[in-house]
Amino acid sequence: MAEALAPATSDPLQTALAATGLDLGLVTDPDQLARFTTDATRRVAATPSLVIRPADTAGVSAALRLCQEAGRRVVLQGGLTGLSGGARVQPGEVVLSLERMTAIGPVDDLAAQIEVGAGATLQQVQEAAAASGLIFGVDLGARGSATIGGMIATNAGGIRVLRYGMMRAQVAGIEAVLADGTVITAMKGLEKDNAGPDLRQLFIGSEGTLGVVTRALLRLHPAPTVETNALCAVDSVEAAQALLRHLRARLGPLLSAYEGIWPEVYEGACALTCNPPLPTGAGLYVLTEIQGMREILQEDAFEAALIEAYEAGLCRDVVVSQSARDHDRLWALREACVDFTFSLGNLLPHDLSLPARALPAFLAEARTRLAEVDPQAGVYIYGHLGDGNLHYIVKTEARTEVSAALNGLAARLGGSITAEHGVGQDKAPYLSMVRSEQERLVMTRLKAAMDPAELLNAGRVLG
Ligand code: LAC
Ligand code: ZN
Repeated sequence: MAEALAPATSDPLQTALAATGLDLGLVTDPDQLARFTTDATRRVAATPSLVIRPADTAGVSAALRLCQEAGRRVVLQGGLTGLSGGARVQPGEVVLSLERMTAIGPVDDLAAQIEVGAGATLQQVQEAAAASGLIFGVDLGARGSATIGGMIATNAGGIRVLRYGMMRAQVAGIEAVLADGTVITAMKGLEKDNAGPDLRQLFIGSEGTLGVVTRALLRLHPAPTVETNALCAVDSVEAAQALLRHLRARLGPLLSAYEGIWPEVYEGACALTCNPPLPTGAGLYVLTEIQGMREILQEDAFEAALIEAYEAGLCRDVVVSQSARDHDRLWALREACVDFTFSLGNLLPHDLSLPARALPAFLAEARTRLAEVDPQAGVYIYGHLGDGNLHYIVKTEARTEVSAALNGLAARLGGSITAEHGVGQDKAPYLSMVRSEQERLVMTRLKAAMDPAELLNAGRVLG
């Protein structure tokens, strides 16, 4: 037993980190280390022996330089809400957590931008924007925990992508630290700046494999004075797509969300939250929303477009929220979709992206393939229908076969194995389904150029 109790300071990296005199927030107490093992997948591979939680960019830089000198692999962590195993610790990895870098503001209301530390949560950014009469364009259920650094690294999506785009569209400036400690500061936030390739893009969606986002300048938007949503019951995904086309034609850029909830999930989510806003038994439910300015918006434009859709037979039933409370309640139902599927236990999630035209064929063929691979499989689908993004969740014992079949089918139909959750460790085996040998070679060369020793988030994305 004596060996097991040897002091953690036998780690030369820890000694070197302590010797910097910087506030690095080191964690070595086994009781405290447990919370850094994994992300929202809850799957655990290893417990880290050391977590570094720097207070600022200089600390991140020093920590990475010392990890590089020690040849130690580093896994990056933000709010641990990821669903692809990107932040799940592998044996031997040191954790670099940005959780203490939570600086927020100031808001520049002329440029409509806000400066934030990587560890600030989405909700903190939303609240700071609101205090200046602005909003942040990205929203998602994990807003209370998801951090801006992680959301940039994974190019997070969420419920308003069809209106505002993904995280990439919100990022006006980035500060990042490379694996060797080099600090890249691209925080001017200019809308137009064509002086060579845009290095900021290297850090958006590369899931921490090319550098660590430490700070960002985010774009904000005018806060809508009208925000209304509605729940529609439709017969089929084809009908839902026709309804989307109709609403886009009528409402143009006002349309701010178009979410699909399939019956099994609808029933489960209703059971967790409220009485069903619409009766069960429809083929598919759609939660749609507009955001606009009361001053220039014909008040009833949304209802008028929905009534028109109803009369044209595009939807079978519709309920339009009449108050902010109704609005929140419908969104709570959408968020309960996640709670419901999580509550079913060890389900197999997929985050598929499909071209709009291939969506009906995908859904039909996926059922056929599932019936072949695992006739007992339970299927739970919801997602960002307006973007062609399905969270296709399966209850199955044949996990490998089912994922290969569904990801393969999506890829064959011109889609993607991950729309918004990223590749992480869990989707890496499927990367070659959607990225060619030539594309992967470029990705490999980029990695070699930015992190030659392959110490940063190793095994993520490229596997
Ligand atoms: C959602 C998360 C799971 O759409 O992406 O709720
Ligand atoms: Zn989603």
